[in-house]
Amino acid sequence: MSEDKEAKETIDLDQVRDVAEAAKAKMLAETFFTKPAPDHELPAHGIEPRAALEVLRSEVMLDSRPDKNLATFVTTEMEPEARQVISENLHRNYIDHAEYPRTAEISKRCVRILHNLFHGEGDPEAPGAACAGSSEAVMLGALAMKWRWKAARKKAGKPDDRPNLVYGADVHVVWDKFCRYFDVEPRQVNLPKGKTTVGPEELGPQIDENTIGVVAVVGTTFTGECDDVVGIDKMLLELKGKGIDVPMHIDGASGGFVFPFTHPDFEWDFRLESVKSINVSGHKFGLVYPGVGWLVFRDGDQLPEDLVFYEDYLGQKDATFTLNFSGSSSFILAQYYVFIRAGRTGFESVMRAMTLNRNTLARELEAEDALTVFKTDGPLLPLVIAQVNDDEPFTGSDLVGELARRRAWLVPAYHLPPDNEDQQIMRMLVKINQTREMVEALTADYHDSIEFLRKKGARKGPEPDVHTGHRY
Ligand SMILES: Cc1ncc(COP(=O)(O)O)c(C=O)c1O
Repeated sequence: MSEDKEAKETIDLDQVRDVAEAAKAKMLAETFFTKPAPDHELPAHGIEPRAALEVLRSEVMLDSRPDKNLATFVTTEMEPEARQVISENLHRNYIDHAEYPRTAEISKRCVRILHNLFHGEGDPEAPGAACAGSSEAVMLGALAMKWRWKAARKKAGKPDDRPNLVYGADVHVVWDKFCRYFDVEPRQVNLPKGKTTVGPEELGPQIDENTIGVVAVVGTTFTGECDDVVGIDKMLLELKGKGIDVPMHIDGASGGFVFPFTHPDFEWDFRLESVKSINVSGHKFGLVYPGVGWLVFRDGDQLPEDLVFYEDYLGQKDATFTLNFSGSSSFILAQYYVFIRAGRTGFESVMRAMTLNRNTLARELEAEDALTVFKTDGPLLPLVIAQVNDDEPFTGSDLVGELARRRAWLVPAYHLPPDNEDQQIMRMLVKINQTREMVEALTADYHDSIEFLRKKGARKGPEPDVHTGHRY
């Protein structure tokens, strides 16, 4: 190589280096700090990993803090070893059973453990499925009821084109979604004035030969109480005697992991003859981060073979009963971690601790004459429901707004389902990260907020807007 050429190449390389350094400096200083985040099209060029991280962090920082989120049922705290299980397995696709057979086996173990916890009989291999959450479990459980009903109708030579599902207005919106998405008539019964759950007297009259099933909630989203499952079971057994055989599905999204430990004698599960399937959210009181849920069947007969699909494109013939296909194994493995880490006594201890702090919060709020705290003698999730008394110059929305302003507490104020929609309540979940110290801080803020709003004489104004759009 001539001397000239060599010198030129050296100069070129230096220039390249300079340009790269300048671009890097510019990237860090300007690309994320002074520019809006890309929100409509893929950016033409990439940025430094740290810059990308900061874009994300600064955006998520605008959200609320999960550990002050008393609105959610979903787990907001897991211990470091559990987080290790999650981070070590994020790249393990759960559906690749041929490649990850131990992961598949661990998932089946979780199903068997739940079947046993819910007093299922026999020793079925995998009476249910791991799901993304209770919503997927509900869709699959309800589809199984629809298919079983269709098969029975066909066998009897009767029409199968007008299926209906019977439930109360205290269900989660997922049940309305199921009916709309899968073309089933929703027979939703309003809650009689003054009632917050349903029983046989409300649901019974809705049932006919086209009913694919009845849904009862164990730990409702609205108040944390339970439908009268024992009464509904009795009514369904009487109907069976008259030739109308209708299964009950239990929506135990929250209660399924609470009542076996807080109320072991409460019969809500497979101890009741008409209960054929149960959904439960691993990511709620199953103490795992989102998303994992479980569908558990009473026995193998509940899953119609038509709903199971077989494929072999992952290297081995595999049966799938899911709405999703790919998904991380992390949360399923984390569920098993929680099972073996806590054991029965561990779950009992966690539920007891939450209940104790829940009771303290309830007692402290009862002392506020501006509030009425909801009471029940029946089984209840670890949550407190309170209502602002009518004669106060502020609403529940004003009060939760003030709580948010003080120490960023996230407490939802919402209306009960029909026919009780005139009642606005506030709901506080007391989860495992809600220490006594936090309960006391929240109580103090309730007290000060009430005093402040009384002095301010806030007028009962319009309700906050519905959250829409990506800017929220
Ligand atoms: C009673 C009930 N059912 C179903 C769901 C939906 O559960 P997931 O969020 O696990 O899909 C919820 C969620 O809060 C619930 O409370």
